Amino acid sequence: MDITKEFIENLPKVELHLHIEGSLEPELMFELAQRNNINLPFANIDEVKDAYNFSNLQDFLNIYYQGMGVLQTEQDFYDLTFAYIKKIASENVMHTEIFFDPQGHTERGIEFEVVVNGISRALEDGRSNLNVSSKLIMSFLRHLSEEEAFSTLEQALPHKDKIIAVGLDSSELGHPPAKFERVFAKARKEGFLVVAHAGEEGPPEYIYEALDLLKVDRIDHGNRALEDDALVKRLVADNMALTVCPLSNLKLCVVKDMVTHPLKEMLDLGLKATVNSDDPAYFGGYMNDNFLAVTKALNLGKDDILKLVQNSIEASFLNSNEKQDLQLRLDIFASTTCF
Ligand code: ADE
Ligand code: ZN
Repeated sequence: MDITKEFIENLPKVELHLHIEGSLEPELMFELAQRNNINLPFANIDEVKDAYNFSNLQDFLNIYYQGMGVLQTEQDFYDLTFAYIKKIASENVMHTEIFFDPQGHTERGIEFEVVVNGISRALEDGRSNLNVSSKLIMSFLRHLSEEEAFSTLEQALPHKDKIIAVGLDSSELGHPPAKFERVFAKARKEGFLVVAHAGEEGPPEYIYEALDLLKVDRIDHGNRALEDDALVKRLVADNMALTVCPLSNLKLCVVKDMVTHPLKEMLDLGLKATVNSDDPAYFGGYMNDNFLAVTKALNLGKDDILKLVQNSIEASFLNSNEKQDLQLRLDIFASTTCF
């Protein structure tokens, strides 16, 4: 029997790849622009949405960095983050691990503390008021220098209690993980877990570098691993999770259409693939829409979908008791839901 929309909506889910600045909906963008007296280059919300047509990652990033310019105060970061948590709570997401891009803000003169405190306070309220648990990952912008990444890491040190891991994002091509080997070594020494975007647009070599030089705990995206059989074998043997983002891949032309998306192939090869939304305000959907899109296009069955959530639980940065609790909630759903 076909998986229903209701099954996906009620499924307890876990998100591991979400850029909080990429959850800025056009409505909130306009509200914050007005609050902060900022002129947007768009007359209305429809014009903003019309601009969200991308041929590649860089096309998107240009608009993404422009959009985040409306975020000025701690309250703005709080409102952005709490709106995202409210949205995913309504979609039965139990736990989320979100990225933030401090350099996208400190470069504009916003204090690191303003950013991290606003986001963290909203995550805390999400935990206590909406029962959504969360972790925060600080991402370095890879188009900037190693020196700037080191300086950002220094600024994060007093906030170790709020930040579980560091990541690497932004323009992938021409900025291999090797560029940040020393920063990541320092971050690991300071006790941060580490992840990196690799193999979204970049070649399999970048995934090898993320593994060998950055010593990542997860790979973000990883689509292009499939071009290298030895790499696939290694990722399977290492039980290395890939945080895959289907609607993002479609919008950024990483895949031509959803029918050719590699998610099902990844699962069949034994890769620890997960489903995530990346930048949902820009790519047309949060977790439910991502699951629905791949379920329909790839004809996923109940076992595939449960496996995807189980992979996310196992690959999360929660402790083993917390993981057991989420797994129990998933098992109860699976055993009590007809589909
Ligand atoms: N920053 C926000 N979204 C991103 C993506 N999909 N890839 C790289 N950097 C990003
Ligand atoms: Zn991403």
